[in-house]
Amino acid sequence: MEENKKVLVVDDEQGVLDLMAEVLPGLGCEVLLARDGEKALQLFQAERPPLVITDLKMPKIDGLTLIRAIKEASPRAEILIITGHANLESAIQAVRLGAFDYFLKPFNLEALGRRVNQALERHRLVSEKEALLKELDQRVQARTAALVESQRRLRAVFNEIRDSLVIVDQTFTIVVANEGATALSGTPVETLIGRKCYRELFGREEICEGCPILEGFATGRAASSSMLRRNPDGSYRYMEVSGYPRAEEGGRPTEVIEHIRDVTKKIHQARHLHNAEKLAVVGRLAAGVTHELGNALAIIGGSAQFLLRYPGDRRQASREFLEIILRNVEAADNTIRELMNFARPRDPLLGPMDVTESLDRACLLLRGEFAQHGVEVVQQYAPALPRIQGDSEQLQKVFLNLLLNAVQAMEEGGTITIRAVFDPPEWVRVELMDTGRGISQEHLERIFDPFFTTRERGTGLGLSIVHRHVEAHRGRLTVESQEGRGTRFTVFFPATTPEQVQAGVG
Ligand SMILES: Nc1ncnc2c1ncn2[C@@H]1O[C@H](COP(=O)(O)OP(=O)(O)OP(=O)(O)O)[C@@H](O)[C@H]1O
Ligand SMILES: [Mg+2]
Repeated sequence: MEENKKVLVVDDEQGVLDLMAEVLPGLGCEVLLARDGEKALQLFQAERPPLVITDLKMPKIDGLTLIRAIKEASPRAEILIITGHANLESAIQAVRLGAFDYFLKPFNLEALGRRVNQALERHRLVSEKEALLKELDQRVQARTAALVESQRRLRAVFNEIRDSLVIVDQTFTIVVANEGATALSGTPVETLIGRKCYRELFGREEICEGCPILEGFATGRAASSSMLRRNPDGSYRYMEVSGYPRAEEGGRPTEVIEHIRDVTKKIHQARHLHNAEKLAVVGRLAAGVTHELGNALAIIGGSAQFLLRYPGDRRQASREFLEIILRNVEAADNTIRELMNFARPRDPLLGPMDVTESLDRACLLLRGEFAQHGVEVVQQYAPALPRIQGDSEQLQKVFLNLLLNAVQAMEEGGTITIRAVFDPPEWVRVELMDTGRGISQEHLERIFDPFFTTRERGTGLGLSIVHRHVEAHRGRLTVESQEGRGTRFTVFFPATTPEQVQAGVG
């Protein structure tokens, strides 16, 4: 910035004006002269000098009025007063109005020169400070605008995601929520803030059992799990809940980002057999049945013929052949019964029971399998589990199938963890976790299909039977798996309600 060193001198004495016109250029100043206040104001408006040197007693406009006008037009302008002794009081008043200093006539030129330089320097510094402040202000404004824009964009992304996204603090209180969370809970975003996530998003009074957010806070790592959510109309939806902890560097997580995705449709789709596949299944089924029955019938037919044509005493041979015939009739009957059972399983005979008894019985039956394959079984049952309404024979089949699959997935041995917990208010949850080979994403969508198998000697009916029995118990079944790490099947059974217990059912 070019330095402005204009000085306006105002005095009705020509002698003073002449003196200044001679002295001030020596200080590097450009001098403007005015003989009265009116002329001075005009010059000031036109030239905007940083410094005005003025007398106080002048015709038309007096010095004090001039000072007020100048300070009003430009508060930064510096003013020096030169005046006679008679005006000392006015001079002091002028300093109060903001004048830099005053000199009484006759004045010392050297002292005046010093004050002129100081006044100009002060003006320069104040101007510079103002320019810097202005620049700073502009920068702050630009930064704020950029921040607002980036916040707006983040907010848009947050809301465009249709799944529920909330951020919760360590007390599971929602601190941020998106529109998806509003859609899930039916509560406006502003109202969700400050409330508990388990209450608003899952309709529960306590932290959900197996909550991945809890795990996120505890371990500092992302976690996810499947959960069931009850709708107001009593139906259920499958939810995949993931928690992503946020921590200050090196510290413990202070917040967790909670992502809730409704996977009900996906699960239903995965279970749905396509028509083409169904036809293929029927074909395979027919081939299998024909083969089994064909074998039995061939043996029966052959035995009967042999008996008919037996050359010697038939009585001697008949017992042996009749036994063969009987065995094969039984085998054929079994095949047909199994098939019927699969096609139309009997309704469960529900009664109050302890789910851990079925689990224990299944484990007992598989003791030999576990030992043979080097599988360790860890049982973790919560105390005082509510009873459920179950059919012990069918449940045993459910657990046998799941445990057998787990053993078969662990060729080199491993651990099966069986957990049974109460998942208030209404579920008893059984988890069966193995450390086996896991299931690929592609297979995961098909494992519940009848006849889907990856085992050479498997029928692929195990899990479809499991699924059917669980449904018949009004239960739910979910599966999570990581290839090479293991698989977790979770079965939810409705717990007997307090009313049922009171009525003596539970
Ligand atoms: N715990 C598990 N770990 C890894 N894969 C599994 C597990 N459970 C099931 N599977 C996969 O799902 C497929 C289907 O299981 P399912 O029990 O229905 O049939 P299967 O075991 O093959 O035959 P079976 O009718 O004799 O039970 C299995 O072949 C296997 O690929
Ligand atoms: Mg199986």
